[in-house]
Amino acid sequence: TWTPYAFVETTVAELKEQIGNDKVILGLSGGVDSTVAAVLLHKAIGKHLHCIFVNNGLLRKNEFEDVLEQYKHMGLNVKGVDASARFLDALAGEEDPEKKRKIIGGVFIDVFDDEAHKVEDAKWLAQGTIYPDRIESVSASGGPSAVIKSHHNVGGLPDYMKLKIVEPLKMLFKDEVRRVGATLGIADERLGRHPFPGPGLAIRILGDITREKVAILQEVDAIFINGLREWGLYDDVWQAGAMLLPVHSVGVMGDERTYEKCVALRAVESTDGMTADWVNLPYEFLQKMSNDIINKVPGVNRVVYDISSKPPATIEWE
Ligand code: XMP
Repeated sequence: TWTPYAFVETTVAELKEQIGNDKVILGLSGGVDSTVAAVLLHKAIGKHLHCIFVNNGLLRKNEFEDVLEQYKHMGLNVKGVDASARFLDALAGEEDPEKKRKIIGGVFIDVFDDEAHKVEDAKWLAQGTIYPDRIESVSASGGPSAVIKSHHNVGGLPDYMKLKIVEPLKMLFKDEVRRVGATLGIADERLGRHPFPGPGLAIRILGDITREKVAILQEVDAIFINGLREWGLYDDVWQAGAMLLPVHSVGVMGDERTYEKCVALRAVESTDGMTADWVNLPYEFLQKMSNDIINKVPGVNRVVYDISSKPPATIEWE
């Protein structure tokens, strides 16, 4: 039978054997998968692991600074690269969901490649790919009803990088990754984190992306996620976030008519993201979130809750 302890023992031994004294580059995202992959590799090869953490300007509020600090505390050899402007400039004016993903994927590769070249003599690229990532990408490129969404972080390696790929988690499901992480001593708070997509808030801002919209959505998202934590609901939810809709609607503030933005809150239960059900959050909680968001976030005058399951909806709106 599979145990996380045995997995760590075997995998660390295999990684040592496979990699020897080579240098490895790994892109950290702040998520569970890349973090566990990094700690596993660090256990096997120590300072030969060079981690790169890119800020694409589409992360949660304060995420880049907070997570970079945590990685440093974990002893990882990590470089933080703030490339926000490159991503946001490249995205300017683009409304099409798939094009937005492709732009982000493309800029990420460029930024990552620039950084990778700074690590002399690197031989390997490590990725935190897990089993469901591969399934969804394969099926998405397969049949006629094919491309559901392009998961840019699978198979997106440009040829010219010429690095060998190592994916120590590629046979694991999410719950197994978390158990491996716990065995490696990674804090529960980090392991219990909800998944967050590579393209970040870009696929939660419907329509074109501006710095102002990102800032609004970061505030809304922070209120919602902190609210879930404060109300003890965070761990009952597999993933949660907010969507900024390309809709303005009429409201009233004091005696004034307003015509402002609408956000949708989304919270789902799932095991691997392939199917999902919306979570029956308490009305009192939703009421509090709605009041806080509308009172505290200028530019938003309406909050709705998404009650769609996957399928036929998806978790992200784009
Ligand atoms: P959907 O929206 O397809 O999402 O139901 C399923 C899970 O995948 C995440 N997701 C992504 N993760 N790059 C990622 O790293 C992506 O392009 C991407 N698209 C969706 C989503 O957040 C959910 O957990």
